Amino acid sequence: MKIDVLPVIEKIKKEIKEHREKLNRKPKLISITDDYTGATKAYLKSQKRIAKEYDVDFEIIETENLIETIKKYNEDKNVDGIFVARPTKTIKFIEVAKILNPAKDVEGVTPYNMGMNFYGVEEFVPCTAESAVKILEQTEELKSKKVAVIGRSITVGKPLAIMLENYGRDCTVNILNSKTKNMQEITKNSDIVIVAIGKANYVNMDFLKEGTTVIDVGINVVDGKLTGDVSKEVEKYCSVTPVPGGVGSVTSAILMRNVFRAAIKGGKI
Ligand SMILES: NC(=O)c1ccc[n+]([C@@H]2O[C@H](COP(=O)([O-])OP(=O)(O)OC[C@H]3O[C@@H](n4cnc5c(N)ncnc54)[C@H](OP(=O)(O)O)[C@@H]3O)[C@@H](O)[C@H]2O)c1
Repeated sequence: MKIDVLPVIEKIKKEIKEHREKLNRKPKLISITDDYTGATKAYLKSQKRIAKEYDVDFEIIETENLIETIKKYNEDKNVDGIFVARPTKTIKFIEVAKILNPAKDVEGVTPYNMGMNFYGVEEFVPCTAESAVKILEQTEELKSKKVAVIGRSITVGKPLAIMLENYGRDCTVNILNSKTKNMQEITKNSDIVIVAIGKANYVNMDFLKEGTTVIDVGINVVDGKLTGDVSKEVEKYCSVTPVPGGVGSVTSAILMRNVFRAAIKGGKI
């Protein structure tokens, strides 16, 4: 069965509407890149379309000096949210995360916002991680569920695992990586499996028991078509988020909501 994410998006849109009424102006998001080519260019173009849909002012800033550009916009009162496209070409992304203003960090990548997640404060957490959590909360009761998260990236797997373990959700989480042994044993013994590895159709029923809730985070292009990390056959036996039209759509809505949240914060944490 496919999981319908539309109710999750509707809830986020409701929050945006409340922020919009309070704000009484259009918020502004800028996306900064030091490599406006290929997948980054395509991604930022789709961001532009999404910003328009959510009535958010949007600008792409190309630069060869990421640090100086970020410092400038950190202080710019006309900019509410700052997104820095990954992968960065000229410096390591951690250098970006270290200097970005946490109050404008709409992607939740700064050490400050990452750390707040550890404290159970989820104001700006990585959007994809929040997307998976919001979908799960809409789908089922999470308390005491056994969860396997496949993938340990700083923007998806790790923050997602922390969120699911945070008080109130109370899941027991295994984070798996490419060196994990007996992976299928762990995933088969889980109520929920979240797949964020970037390998098309990798997870099939060999990894899952019937009735598992499966969140497919993966975005891969196979023969020109978007494909997740989870094989299509899984839909027959488990509840699974579709690709496209699943985690990614909710992620976009969350990013836009965060721009409104940042606008209300006015550049101060
Ligand atoms: N829908 C959305 O909004 C959204 C947003 C962001 C990303 N994505 C997609 O999600 C996927 C993951 O993104 P990411 O940024 O987290 O990728 P990433 O930084 O490349 O991390 C991939 C993770 O998967 C693990 N992995 C790879 N092959 C594995 C295997 N066979 N078994 C177990 N673990 C394995 C890696 O393990 P090691 O650490 O051991 O190498 C790594 O931890 C990609 O397809 C990306 O396009 C989607």
